[in-house]
Amino acid sequence: MDQLVIEGRHPLKGTIRISGAKNAALPILAATLLTGGTFRLQNIPRLVDIKTFTDLMTDLGVIVDYSADNDSDVLNIDSSGLSDHEAPYDLVRKMRASILVLGPLLSRTGKARVSLPGGCAIGARPINLHLKGLELMGAKLRLKKGYIEARAGRLNGAHIYFDTPSVTGTENLMMAAVLAKGTTVLRNAAREPEILALGQMLNQMEAKIKGLGSDTVKIEGVRKLRPVDWAIIPDRIEAGTYMMAVGTAGGELIIENLLANHLEAVISKLRSTGLQIEGDNTRISVRKKGNLHSVDIKTLPYPGFPTDLQAQIMVLMALADGLSVITETIFENRFMHVAELRRLGADIKVEGRSALIKGINELNGAPVMATDLRASASLVLAGLAAKGTTTISRVYHLDRGYECLERKLAAVGANIKREKA
Ligand code: EPZ
Repeated sequence: MDQLVIEGRHPLKGTIRISGAKNAALPILAATLLTGGTFRLQNIPRLVDIKTFTDLMTDLGVIVDYSADNDSDVLNIDSSGLSDHEAPYDLVRKMRASILVLGPLLSRTGKARVSLPGGCAIGARPINLHLKGLELMGAKLRLKKGYIEARAGRLNGAHIYFDTPSVTGTENLMMAAVLAKGTTVLRNAAREPEILALGQMLNQMEAKIKGLGSDTVKIEGVRKLRPVDWAIIPDRIEAGTYMMAVGTAGGELIIENLLANHLEAVISKLRSTGLQIEGDNTRISVRKKGNLHSVDIKTLPYPGFPTDLQAQIMVLMALADGLSVITETIFENRFMHVAELRRLGADIKVEGRSALIKGINELNGAPVMATDLRASASLVLAGLAAKGTTTISRVYHLDRGYECLERKLAAVGANIKREKA
């Protein structure tokens, strides 16, 4: 297994280009199952999760062509030869987003056999809302040997209310509804930018979706969709992570190829800590001038502060000038990074869904272990700030969601290397 070795306290200076968003690319890959013909997808990030998902699609009989263009981020997909309808446990266990094939497979073929994802480090991650919506649309579901076996003729439009906004739940049911008979209304739907992007691509495929970006999405079923060319939106969580790297390592970064309007809550919060953030929607500068101020954070569904940046901003608060409270309202166990940050000297207490952070002057490097994707990003940010050497093991977690992270950071002055453990 690889590990990252970081010598801290090297202020950053330079430009970082943001890659395509993992959480936009995954549902868009799933949507190519809805119709045969060639999709040309651009700005696809080179990530383990994307490879896992395209391996699953290949197993389903889909042609996935990475080599079409010498430009490394282009992917051509053709699901004309779709011949299977099963997402096996060993793949779904590795990546829960595989559940996103359920809606499209039912729409396209009327059947699907998808392993229940099981829990993960950050929480139980139930999919009851996905399944309830599909049943309301006429699917017959049964649980057998840890698999959901789903059957449906043509799905029927339905009125579906989400007990809680679910990102992949909204995406799955949108993809189930686009070829259904009649109209589907999704109420209390999630509003993340990745969902808006998926809906825009579906509409380009000649689906009929209204209300995108709001909590009420109306989908009028059609008989046929067509393949399209599509570019994946930039990764707002990657962009937020690098903005916070300035907060921990110091210095100044130019961040380009982002969409700053997807990060309003984050930019507003980071400005309150004292980071100087200027620029336009696709190119910003982030500069650290003096010590950071403590602020309180509460994670919420979009457009609130994203849970996927909670572990990262906790590192800034660990070095800020006072007390801060971070409340995690989305997942029940998303403080796995706290124990590791404490090994670096952070003063953090967890009480239920809240963490109380007392800012200190400096962190000290030590060996730490990544536990999940975004926790591993927070350990990198801590290593950039810590005195001495920080070694992060199990970086396979990081490789799931960050493209060439150590290369991007080394290019702007960080002393960070990947080694075989
Ligand atoms: C998506 O996960 C993201 N993954 C997650 O990013 C992100 O943290 C999460 O949304 C929240 O923003 C992808 O988009 C691939 P949810 P998802 O369904 O869809 C509860 C990362 O680091 N819920 O919006 O699985 C659930 O328990 C990953 O890139 C139900 O109760 O999250 C949670 O409390 C981590 N029943 C809340 O809703 C359901 O059927 C939000 O979960 C579904 C969800």
